[in-house]
Amino acid sequence: FAQTVTMRAAPQDDAPTISRHIYGHFAEHLGRCIYGGFYVGDTSNIPNREGVRLDVVEALRDLKIPNLRWPGGCFADTYHWKDGIGPKEDRPSILNVWWGNVKEDNSFGTNEFLNMCELLDTEPYLSANVGSGTPQEFADWIKYTNHPAGTSPMPSLRAEYGREEPWKVKYWGIGNEAWGCGGNMRPEYYADLYRRFATYASDWNNTDGIYKIASGASGGDYNWTKVLMENIPKNLIDAIALHHYSVIDWGNKGSAKEFTEDQYFATMAEALKMEEFVAKHVAIMDEFDPEKKVDLFVDEWGGWYDVEPGTNEGFLYQQNTMRDAMIAGTTLNIFNNHADRVKMANLAQAVNVLQAVILTEGEKMLLTPTYHVMKMYAVHHDATLIPLEFESPTYTHDGESLPAISASASRDSSGNVHISLVNIDASKAHTVELDVAALNLGSLTGEILTSAALQDHNTFERPDHVKTAPFTGATLQNGKISLELAPFTLVVLKAGE
Ligand code: AHR
Repeated sequence: FAQTVTMRAAPQDDAPTISRHIYGHFAEHLGRCIYGGFYVGDTSNIPNREGVRLDVVEALRDLKIPNLRWPGGCFADTYHWKDGIGPKEDRPSILNVWWGNVKEDNSFGTNEFLNMCELLDTEPYLSANVGSGTPQEFADWIKYTNHPAGTSPMPSLRAEYGREEPWKVKYWGIGNEAWGCGGNMRPEYYADLYRRFATYASDWNNTDGIYKIASGASGGDYNWTKVLMENIPKNLIDAIALHHYSVIDWGNKGSAKEFTEDQYFATMAEALKMEEFVAKHVAIMDEFDPEKKVDLFVDEWGGWYDVEPGTNEGFLYQQNTMRDAMIAGTTLNIFNNHADRVKMANLAQAVNVLQAVILTEGEKMLLTPTYHVMKMYAVHHDATLIPLEFESPTYTHDGESLPAISASASRDSSGNVHISLVNIDASKAHTVELDVAALNLGSLTGEILTSAALQDHNTFERPDHVKTAPFTGATLQNGKISLELAPFTLVVLKAGE
């Protein structure tokens, strides 16, 4: 039987803004994310601008992606940016040792990435090499991208390579997964190394406005966050990262599109751990930084399964189903509800890798269910959070329970209220009764993402199998919104004054 969940919208005067950067993306030199995904080269028959696929650009512009993190991931701590500038025929090739040991010809480098960000109208977030790089290499990269030509050798080199004006990159990650592929460091050692690298990122007054991000913990490694917060002076750090992937079992991740309810339940249990991880890392940050000067960036998240049969193990290419839509909807609600400290998040990864929003095959491209979730939720970008008070009914499977309903709400600058609701229950509908009396609302419209089976996904033959539709099943009467949420369904409501 459907249970009824009663919710109350409790607007607060000091409610935080939901940073649009929570809806950020990630593009690593991994498999077909960059090569074949974003970049096909300017001699390709696929329509492109300076080698960047125009279909992908258009789809990501529609999504209003606020930022793009690059070049990794694990790849970042093996990447020497000077390999990727200048005439392409002079750029050295290297082996991509983390991802399939394939040849990386460096044809897509700093200029290509930053010009692509301009085309996408998105903010670049560069991840600097700490694991195998030097503070000088890092400082040179900042000078190359941000300083006016003629002020030192790096900006002059940029001008020589065809770009007079600096790009002015704000976001800089100082290392990635320093506890693992980024150098296998202890937090104490990384904290010291971070201090050293961060010192050379900016001048005394940080006139460049460089925003420095420390490589963060994996999941529930709270000691990592504690040691960093304790040991890095606040003037050297703007954000600390956190990574969490929804993986059932690293040794047996299971198929992305053929899965049982057991596996679905286990994936959702992993995805929902994000709430606890964020809350506990934030509690540690609150202890050392009650003024909330340091932000939390969840700069890698998403579902991770076995690669599609017949594809390269190192390329992490996986399909994307309604299960992924459930991960995205619930995770983004968690980030929205923690908007006072979570200021950026990056879904891994944008194209052809892990929980991608876009898949490509030759000249073909499709939008995944996760793309649709991101698009539906774009209404929350830079809107003011409206806290929702409720207790979720449970989704019970095999004697274990998870909260079935996830929700978040915000008011945008035009006064419209948006409420995003997800029911992850695999078989039960739930009725939602939301008290919005405090919000003074009139009209109500909505959009829904649902499908016949959890395993449903889009293919190159059937790219619109899973898509959004208008939702007319909600009513607004006497200050109360009522609707029924079908199993594994996501609805975003829009209510005007
Ligand atoms: O996103 C794939 C990989 O996952 C990244 O390179 C790394 O940071 C993480 O372990």
